[in-house]
Amino acid sequence: HSVAVIGAPFSQGQKRKGVECGPAAVREAGLIKRLSDLGCHLKDFGDLNFTPVPKDDLYNNLIVNPRSVGLANQELAEVVSRAVSGGYSCVTVGGDHSLAIGTISGHARHCPDLGVIWVDAHADINTPLTTSSGNLHGQPVSFLLRELQDKVPQLPGFSWIKPCISSPSIVYIGLRDVDPPEQQAPLPHLIEKLLFNIDRLGIQKVMEQTFDLLIGKRQRPIHLSFDIDAFDPTLAPATGTPVVGGLTYREGMYITEEIHSTGLLSALDLVEVNPRLAVSEEEAKATASLAVDVIASSFGQTREGGHVVYDQLP
Ligand code: ARG
Ligand code: MN
Ligand code: MN
Ligand code: MN
Repeated sequence: HSVAVIGAPFSQGQKRKGVECGPAAVREAGLIKRLSDLGCHLKDFGDLNFTPVPKDDLYNNLIVNPRSVGLANQELAEVVSRAVSGGYSCVTVGGDHSLAIGTISGHARHCPDLGVIWVDAHADINTPLTTSSGNLHGQPVSFLLRELQDKVPQLPGFSWIKPCISSPSIVYIGLRDVDPPEQQAPLPHLIEKLLFNIDRLGIQKVMEQTFDLLIGKRQRPIHLSFDIDAFDPTLAPATGTPVVGGLTYREGMYITEEIHSTGLLSALDLVEVNPRLAVSEEEAKATASLAVDVIASSFGQTREGGHVVYDQLP
């Protein structure tokens, strides 16, 4: 594999300090070494410097930092699209989940047929009109889905975004904190149809159905957008919006192992690691190290110990 790593130290899609330290924490937990030990050919883009927007007033008295979020995502989309067109699978380490606007837009420029697997406690499909928090990390999906565009007002800084996915091209896994407006209008069936019940079916069936839906009819590039809060807070405590009752370690690793086995993974976001919200150094390290496990497993690390890489033998 050729894998590009992009650090996106971005926090303006929400209000808690520290999620901009996610990329550093995940690097510190050994990301680059784990990927190169797997035999990945790496291109490290480093941590991006997003252009600050000095005067970024609330939109509608509610939505925070619209211009900063818009511009940073525009810059990120550029880098992701360059990496993907250069033949790399693109790993973006966040940062808050609003950055999926940029990664998916950039990925779709080169791979218009991509399918999205969104692993998260949250659906992140509020619109600027339905959000109660005003945080753009709860809204990225709304800007990307074609079907929602007549419900989504144009925010300052967002005019470059072209909605690039249709609702059958996204599958949610791990949802357990969906806001009422996200469940009802404007896409009532999306959540209901795609909110697979891991309790009822088990993770193996959930992945089978995910692939039936996304790649049953044709092979297509996969974009995995993985919010660390999909995991149970006992495993991933250092995150901004933890929700009880999350994925187990084994469920998480099963998801990424199965995605790796399709051979179709083309981009991955790992978001919402916020080391500053941990109550101890151990908690911060455990969350970052879990993030590394998710990424390594997506690129072929197995729980038996990974494949032998012959060109690294003496
Ligand atoms: N639904 C809530 C909101 O709109 C929480 C979103 C949490 N999103 C996240 N990427 N952690 O604000
Ligand atoms: Mn979430
Ligand atoms: Mn999210
Ligand atoms: Mn492999």
